[in-house]
Amino acid sequence: MTDLAMLKISETNLDELATHAGAIAIFATPDGKLGLAARKLNALTKKAVARAVESTQFEKLKTGDAIALSFPAGIAAAKVIVVKLGRRPSVEDARKAGASIAKARGEADVLILGGNIGRMEDVALGTALRSYTFTPHKTGDKDTLGAIEVMVTAPSDLQAAADVAMAVAQGVVFTRDLTNEPANVLTTTEFADRLVELENLGMTVEVLEEDALEELGMGSLLCVGLGSASPSKVVVMQWNGGGDEAPFALVGKGVVFDTGGISLKPAGGMEDMTMDMGGAGVVAGVMKTLALRKARANVVGLVGLVENMPSDRATRPGDVVTSMKGDTIEVINTDAEGRLVLADVVWYAQDRFKPTGVINLATLTGAVIVALGHENAGVFSNNDDLTNGFMKAAQAEGEGAWRLPMSAAYDAKLKSRIADVKNVGGREAGSITAAQFIKRFIKDDMPWIHLDIAGVASVKAETALAPVGATGWGVMALNRFIADGYEAG
Ligand code: BES
Ligand code: MN
Ligand code: ZN
Repeated sequence: MTDLAMLKISETNLDELATHAGAIAIFATPDGKLGLAARKLNALTKKAVARAVESTQFEKLKTGDAIALSFPAGIAAAKVIVVKLGRRPSVEDARKAGASIAKARGEADVLILGGNIGRMEDVALGTALRSYTFTPHKTGDKDTLGAIEVMVTAPSDLQAAADVAMAVAQGVVFTRDLTNEPANVLTTTEFADRLVELENLGMTVEVLEEDALEELGMGSLLCVGLGSASPSKVVVMQWNGGGDEAPFALVGKGVVFDTGGISLKPAGGMEDMTMDMGGAGVVAGVMKTLALRKARANVVGLVGLVENMPSDRATRPGDVVTSMKGDTIEVINTDAEGRLVLADVVWYAQDRFKPTGVINLATLTGAVIVALGHENAGVFSNNDDLTNGFMKAAQAEGEGAWRLPMSAAYDAKLKSRIADVKNVGGREAGSITAAQFIKRFIKDDMPWIHLDIAGVASVKAETALAPVGATGWGVMALNRFIADGYEAG
């Protein structure tokens, strides 16, 4: 697992600047003003910093972008990174500045001279998140990110915010590691084992094995994993930081690999289906963040872990299965497996925990990528208040989310001749009929959101805070959603 180097916050010490190895990041305002430490560095480097700041190259930078000076004279550092940033940056600009530092630092340890500029916790978060690479399967590469140190005028004022930022970073990195991991490594058993580790943070973690799932009547979830040698599991993670109140439930699709089953996918790009557990990965990451920052809320995270493989034991198109709810489902297409998993896990979550609301996440449909690309997750809900709260949180964290409609009219597409419902509704409005299918397993009056993250969980072009591959989309939004809506002051 990627080991996130701890962030060190310290008081500005000008005497260390000449001898500090690695990279040093400093800030200059858009009109070229430098803080105390940056001016000292300018003096030490025989005014190399001032020349950079006065250049047209600096003038052309956007806020949050940087220029790197390599091997400057007069100091031990291999690099000075000059970042264009105002003294009271927005969250977005601060994180972007952090990402610019990450890209310029290479693998070096970095010292960020923050002085009394605002939002240094967001700068550090941006640096931590954009420094991530997934290296466990690269021979010889170490998987530890270089250290990050931030020097500021008042370290005690920053420490608490920095701790929260690192709790967020650790959650996002946990999600990315899980989502990037190939399916021969991240089997259902390995996934469950990694979640059980969260007990070390004070969480309660239970693993429900196939016999228990059969006992519960989860015929819908279980039919997905029949073709695989890996056993299906449901993992229940409980974080009880909030007293006796009913919890909020997060539910994730955890298909460790999706071949499509008997409705086999074409070969081209099938390797991308290692990320089909991305919803479960986000639930795991959010739970980790909540535990690390000791959130004062009760949240339960449930993930359905299965592998969708073709074999002589696999579910066939046309098979009819019975869900835990009791509804029978005609499986028309074994590649529409995510909704079969979610049907039973959302039902179980409501039945057992009587939560105040449910949000499920799933890499559910290719159709949502056709609709929204890789910029926004699809948001489907039966509740405007819950949706507004989530959308606000997503916006604040810079994680794209766009609401799409639901209505009973779409249910006609899911009518089965021989069972209560079928698992596909045809090509048109494919993401909406998938959402309508899940809604069938949401109790009346239960506030609920379905997030279709097929387009955002893993990407082929870098984003503001993530390299190519798993993004961890949603960890920051859901962490904020819980903090803003479910935590006592
Ligand atoms: N895991 C896929 C959806 C997916 C596609 C995720 C691309 C990430 C990237 C899902 O299980 C699936 O196969 N959906 C089918 C549904 C269809 C059979 C109704 C799809 O979208 O084609
Ligand atoms: Mn599928
Ligand atoms: Zn799938």
